[in-house]
Order: sequence, then C-alpha cells, then structure tokens
Amino acid sequence: MELNYLECIACGSREDIQTNSYQCSKCGDLLEVKYDIESLKEIVDPKRWTGSLRVWRYKEMMPLKDGSKIITMNEGGTNLVDCDNLQSMFKISSLRVKNEGENPTGSFKDRGMTVGVSRAVEQGAKVVICASTGNTASSAAAYAARAGMRCVVIVPSRAIALGKLAQATIHGAEVVQVKGNFDQSLKMVLDFANRHKEIYLLNSLNPFRLEGQRSLAFEVCEQSNFEVPDRIIVPVGNAGNISAIWKGFSEFKELGIINELPKMTGIQAENASPIADAVKRGDDKILNVERPETVASAIRIGAPASWRKALRAIRMSGGTAEKVSDNEILEAQRLLARKEGIFTEPAGASSVAGLKKLLEQGVVDSDERVVCVCTGHGLKDPDIVMQFVKLEAEMEPEMESMERALGIASVVTR
Ligand code: F0G
Repeated sequence: MELNYLECIACGSREDIQTNSYQCSKCGDLLEVKYDIESLKEIVDPKRWTGSLRVWRYKEMMPLKDGSKIITMNEGGTNLVDCDNLQSMFKISSLRVKNEGENPTGSFKDRGMTVGVSRAVEQGAKVVICASTGNTASSAAAYAARAGMRCVVIVPSRAIALGKLAQATIHGAEVVQVKGNFDQSLKMVLDFANRHKEIYLLNSLNPFRLEGQRSLAFEVCEQSNFEVPDRIIVPVGNAGNISAIWKGFSEFKELGIINELPKMTGIQAENASPIADAVKRGDDKILNVERPETVASAIRIGAPASWRKALRAIRMSGGTAEKVSDNEILEAQRLLARKEGIFTEPAGASSVAGLKKLLEQGVVDSDERVVCVCTGHGLKDPDIVMQFVKLEAEMEPEMESMERALGIASVVTR
C-alpha cells in the first residue's frame, strides 16, 4: 500500500502521487492527496514533534519525497489570540482569532506555498505561475524568489490591493494584468499550465499547496491542548482554505490525535457568494456569480474552483455558510483593530463579521467556543482604510497650539 496517492474528489479514481496533472484524467474534476491512514499512524507521533509550531513540524504528513529541497521561511506558528473584548461585546463564551497576517508574506497562503514551491523544485520546474486576487501572487513571488525560479502572476486589471502588488513586484514576479476578473484569470492559467506541462501551477487546484494549508488545523488543535473548538469560521473565496482546514482536522481525528471535529463555517461577501447561496438553498451544486463585487478584493470570486470540497466540508461537519455586506465587513475590520489590536484586511475580517451575524440570528450559540480565521494582514490594502480617515488639523510646533489641537486646556500657573 502506498503511503499517499492522489484521488479525484468526484469520481474517486486514483492517480500516482508523482503525476504532473491537476485534474482527474477520467472526469476532469480536482484531485486531492490521500493517505493510507494505517501506514501514517506508524510514522506520526505527536510526542516526537519538537520545536515551535510551524508547517514543517508536521513534515511526515506533507507529501514530499525529499526533505532536502524544502523552500521555507518558517511559515505558520501564528498566534491564536484570545479576544476578550470582542468576546464580551458579542456575549460569547470563547472567541479566539487565528491571526494569519503574522505569516512571512502576511497571509495564510505561505502555509501552502512552502509545500507547493518545494514540490515544484522536486518536479524540476523552472517557471511557476498563478492567477490571483493578490495574496497568492505575493506569496508565490516570495517563495519562487528563494527557489531561484521565474514567477508569473496573472491578476485582474486594476483590482489588486496596493500592498499585494508591491510585494509581487519587489520579489521579482512578472505581473500580467488581465482585462477580466479572477475567475477568467484562473481559467486562463489552468489552460496554460495544461498546455505547457513544464510550467508549474501554484493555484489551490494544486493539491500539494492545500496540504500545507491544513497545518492551520493542526496548530489550532495543539494551541487548544487538543480540545477542538466547537466552530471554525473561515473567509471563503476560491474555497481551497476551508477545504484544507477541514481535511486537516479530519485526518487528525482519523489518526486518533483528536476526538471531536469543529463545525466548518464559511463566510462570503454579498455579491460574491455562490457557496453561501448554495448552502442556503440546500443545494449540492453552486450557481456561479457572473460579476462578483465586494470591497474585500481577496474574495471577489464568482466561480470558486474548490466549491465541491467546501460544500462537503460544511455538510459533513454540520457547519454552515453565510454572506456579509461590505459595511458589515468594514465594521468588523474596525472592531478587530480598535478592540483587539488586530489589523486584518477586509477579507480577513469577514469571518468576524459572519460570527456577529450568525450570533444575532441565533445560528451560533453563545456558549460555543469559536475560532475565527483572519486570513491576511491589514497593511496589504491600505487604500480601504485611508478612504475613511480624516487626519487631524495641522498645528504649529508650540505647546499652546498642541493643547488647542487636542482640546486639552492649558494648566494655569501662578
Ligand atoms: N482571505 C484572503 C486574505 C485571501 O487572500 C483569500 C484568497 C481568501 C481569504 C479566500 O481563501 O480562496 O482559499 O477560499 N485569496 C486568493 C488569492 C484567491 O489569489 O490570493 P480561499
């Protein structure tokens, strides 16, 4: 029995782990990495995990052949922050935030990229490519730079947050803008990578990248002393992350490392919510959104590639999905910043916006232990914040002028 192999998520056919393809050769759906759990049980022993939390702590659970070619920046190990202020404001018994903005390039994408780019090295690739709403591009650019590879990123025209564009550019990626949206960009890179087999695709269609992203689940288990939270709330765009996190929890349970599973709860932006809409309809298929629109540019996606995996995760875990408005997202972003000191980009704040809404609706109980994933750092999208900022009036460099500016009266001395 092979330790790991690839399996189609729709028809169940198996492919060799070394295959260079992103889709099932029989039905064309996505592939995912599967493990022979009994063989994995023999090599995985949490007591032998040493050092700090990070993706490569779980190296025997990552499907690479050769540990000597790993491209890493010690990604993962982000804080699970106790949010006491928001907890009492929302009247919930436990609220923690997995603060993914702490990763090397400022988003959860680094967890997957370290595995994806290491796999590209193993496959002998010289060029990597991805379509992106920004964070995948920043992360791919940084890891490809470390690996000495050419990196091409395809992004929707004038739709990428400034910080992300700066990151991709400074790391030396070739940034090509498409006169279209993310969904069109993704279709183009997939067709391109299928045509030019020597070019390695780093989107979440790539099952290896998602294997790295499930480390978030492993860390939450360890940071909770293996007492699994009742619910994990995750921002959803292309739907790879929620699927990967669920896969991580499920495998820990199969290995006997944890006893419970969390309810996977996906949050999308209104007008970019095909998965939340399908869950509300009780449907097992999504209807793509032709022109997705939201202030949270990272999740401005209408045709999520991993929709089938995400619906499966939500259903199997007894979770749910909800959509939130731009105003709700921006309000949650400000609350996180002002009550907890956490600055996350709008997409990252959508999980907290979703929690607030689900509590108000009575879908989430006030006695639940909830973890919200805040997926990316707020500095990636400074324009969003600055459009609401009114700077105080300028003052002369004099004490009196400062007291006037701050509305603090001067002390009268005799
Ligand atoms: N949050 C942020 C900050 C993101 O950048 C993304 C995805 C998501 C949430 C959604 O994750 O796609 O796995 O459901 N960003 C991708 C990108 C699409 O290109 O950077 P998902």
